[in-house]
Amino acid sequence: MSVSQFTPGSTDPLTLHPADCGRGHACQFCPQEADCALDKSHHEQQLLQHRLARIGQIILVMANKGGVGKSTLTANLAAGLAREGYRVGVADADIHGPNQSRFFNLVGQRVHLTPGGLETRQCHHDRLAQPIRVGSLAFLMDRDDTPIVWRDAYKHDFMHHLIGSFDWGELDFLLIDMPPGTGNELITLADLLEHQDVAALITTTPQEVALMDSLKAVRFCQERGLPLIGVVENMAGVTCPHCGGEFHLFPRAHLAQALAQLEVQSIAQIPLSPALATASDSGQPLLLDAPDSPEAQAFQPAVHACIAHARQIQQQAATNALLTVMQTAGDDSLAGLDPRDLPDGIHPDDLAELMQQEQARLNRR
Ligand SMILES: Nc1ncnc2c1ncn2[C@@H]1O[C@H](COP(=O)(O)OP(=O)(O)O)[C@@H](O)[C@H]1O
Ligand code: SF4
Ligand SMILES: [Mg+2]
Repeated sequence: MSVSQFTPGSTDPLTLHPADCGRGHACQFCPQEADCALDKSHHEQQLLQHRLARIGQIILVMANKGGVGKSTLTANLAAGLAREGYRVGVADADIHGPNQSRFFNLVGQRVHLTPGGLETRQCHHDRLAQPIRVGSLAFLMDRDDTPIVWRDAYKHDFMHHLIGSFDWGELDFLLIDMPPGTGNELITLADLLEHQDVAALITTTPQEVALMDSLKAVRFCQERGLPLIGVVENMAGVTCPHCGGEFHLFPRAHLAQALAQLEVQSIAQIPLSPALATASDSGQPLLLDAPDSPEAQAFQPAVHACIAHARQIQQQAATNALLTVMQTAGDDSLAGLDPRDLPDGIHPDDLAELMQQEQARLNRR
């Protein structure tokens, strides 16, 4: 692994802990690693905590199978969320097939190492108030066609670098494009993100073989207690480019039945579409370039489900904080309030403001 530039000597932007060097990158990238006497595991831990403290909702896009549309969904979801004005990052966790550089037209780009960390590459677009930040192993390789042959320990380290060494800045959403399987990468990330607001989105295609694997991913989430936002059905139907007629290449009945058995919701159905394939290959997410197309519209329920999930979590956190403030002050007027009972219209920001007002009121007593 190599990085194209290192700029030593600038002021370190991260002030993490007095016993820490405050550098925004992992020790593995550090020019002082050989002589450094600091506790390196402590540094890596501080680095991760610093990054995660600035990231809101994390969403793992997973399937347990390759080629079913995880990366397609991740890229379009990122575009949809960014179009709504959210600050979005995409972490490409697929070590053996890092594709997000392709989906965002960033192929061939390399990252620079600064004292603040590895710079993310950015996707700018007229329809976006702020760019989508992308972090991928593809930006760290000398060549795009180098195969990765890493043992598990190295993969484990890379998952830490992906979250900790890239300079994600402040994000509302970090989408993680997962590799197939429920192996090392997934376990490492699930452990690493244990105390964060993390949820999963599973994608599947209707074929039996894809479904078998996707259901394993559902079970993984259920066993780990990982909130599951829902399942996105990809390649669900085709529109004939000649006659406009719609048909299903693969029967859907079994998929619907299997999801119902697992009590999981199908939240979006994405058609098999030449426009989508071309957009992905050319690095122009359809949700940015053709947001009114039927394919782009098909992603919208998934975008809205992610926003709704994040809002619910924020609302719950704000309510819990408010209750703690009230209870600490001996005020039980809100005792017994369940965050889920709050009227739909309450926005987390309003609740946060309410909390501040309440704190000020208590301070005036
Ligand atoms: N609904 C779709 N219509 C057309 N092509 C698709 C669709 N979903 C995915 N593809 C294409 O299939 C290939 C595999 O999709 P990808 O998102 O990379 O899958 P995964 O990340 O699960 O391996 C890509 O070339 C992608 O452009
Ligand atoms: S080796 Fe690690 S702890 Fe030491 S200065 Fe470099 S980044 Fe910091
Ligand atoms: Mg992929």
